[in-house]
Amino acid sequence: MKHLAVALILFLFVYQKCCAGAGDGFIRTRGIHFMLNGSPFYANGFNAYWLMYVASDPSQRHKVSTAFQQASSHGLTVARTWAFSDGGYKPLQYAPGSYNEQMFKGLDFVIAEARRYGIKLVLSLANNYENLGGKKQYVNWARSAGQYLTSDDDFFRNPVVKGYYKNHIRTILNRFNKFTGILYKNDPTIMAWELMNEPRCTSDPSGRTIQAWIMEMASYVKSIDRAHMLEAGLEGFYGQSSPHRLNLNPSFNIGTDFIANNRTPGIDFATVHSYPDQWLSSSNNENQLSFLNNWLDGHIQDAQFVLNKPILITEFGKSLKDPGFSSYQRDVLFNTVYYKIYASARHGGAAAGGLFWQLLTEGMDSFRDGYEIVLSENSSTANVISQQAHKLDQIRKIFARMRNFEMWRRARRAQRLARNRGKPIGK
Ligand SMILES: *[C@@H]1O[C@H](CO)[C@@H](O)[C@H](O)[C@H]1NC(C)=O
Repeated sequence: MKHLAVALILFLFVYQKCCAGAGDGFIRTRGIHFMLNGSPFYANGFNAYWLMYVASDPSQRHKVSTAFQQASSHGLTVARTWAFSDGGYKPLQYAPGSYNEQMFKGLDFVIAEARRYGIKLVLSLANNYENLGGKKQYVNWARSAGQYLTSDDDFFRNPVVKGYYKNHIRTILNRFNKFTGILYKNDPTIMAWELMNEPRCTSDPSGRTIQAWIMEMASYVKSIDRAHMLEAGLEGFYGQSSPHRLNLNPSFNIGTDFIANNRTPGIDFATVHSYPDQWLSSSNNENQLSFLNNWLDGHIQDAQFVLNKPILITEFGKSLKDPGFSSYQRDVLFNTVYYKIYASARHGGAAAGGLFWQLLTEGMDSFRDGYEIVLSENSSTANVISQQAHKLDQIRKIFARMRNFEMWRRARRAQRLARNRGKPIGK
């Protein structure tokens, strides 16, 4: 019995040393934390919407590999990217339910390559905006099929459109990856699905339309895939369920509700985006930073105490087209976001990481949008990024060690109990 317990302790230690961090498990939530292979998981990562598009051309695939290689050498562990491109030029889905195999192979490659570099993926399933199709393309497809639709927001309401979108969900989740031989829905390289990039429904400011849509689609995703986490893709604007928070919103209402939407069954964690340079474009840099501080504080607190779910800052950045831009200002903004995450995480809080917008690699000038970061060219920001990765990794190690110690104590207690049980009663 004693030998067995010792062997168990040894096994747990060795397992933790060799296998935790190998990244072969599914990331899941436990309370307000993400867990991977028994340890808390913190995400320092990036957005790169272009991965599938670029990888669909085999002669360009080295750019995807370079991006992952540079990201992983700066300690980045999560990439958020598009698993959609609907209609238009080089589409993944060229008509409802009809897919371009060349593009799908591009996405297969992205997933296979992410796995090779130890990077987990957040895959978004549709776009609110008309870039790469979006809800407008879906609504137009339904119009061509004879539906009478008056608004792009009918994406969230019309049964035919919802059917098209569900078909896309089903197609992606059941895709057989030609490089890895693994169905997407069984692949632990995928951290989470995202229903839509920044869902907005301005035609219904009450928020009921988006709420109903998230509920329906979350349960649809979970009916196919219970292994992966799911998030809604929200920017984090508050709605009617939290009147005391409305003052944190920039002054526009887009029909979403951070609290109610993220409470939906099937939504595993909350997301927040932050673009004070766009949302408060007429304010100065100082006011934008003060907005950012309050915005993040509010959301991190609410994730922890109201939603009881982890929260990921899935987009933030600063454009070099902003008036008076300097890379110093961008570094200050990154440090502000990173510090909020760190301050929460080191006390065991709900903030689990941040993904900046957007990572490019050399020779991708046509993808520049003002927010781009090329790690090999923008060294001051690259330093800020790797420092954060290092700090989050320290926290992860501390919690992993604490957990090891806890397991060791439990094993010892079990051993003592077993030994005592062996003694004759009354002696
Ligand atoms: C990043 O580096 C490129 C190339 O050196 C430069 O053109 C660009 O202005 C830099 N961006 C920032 C934000 O410093």
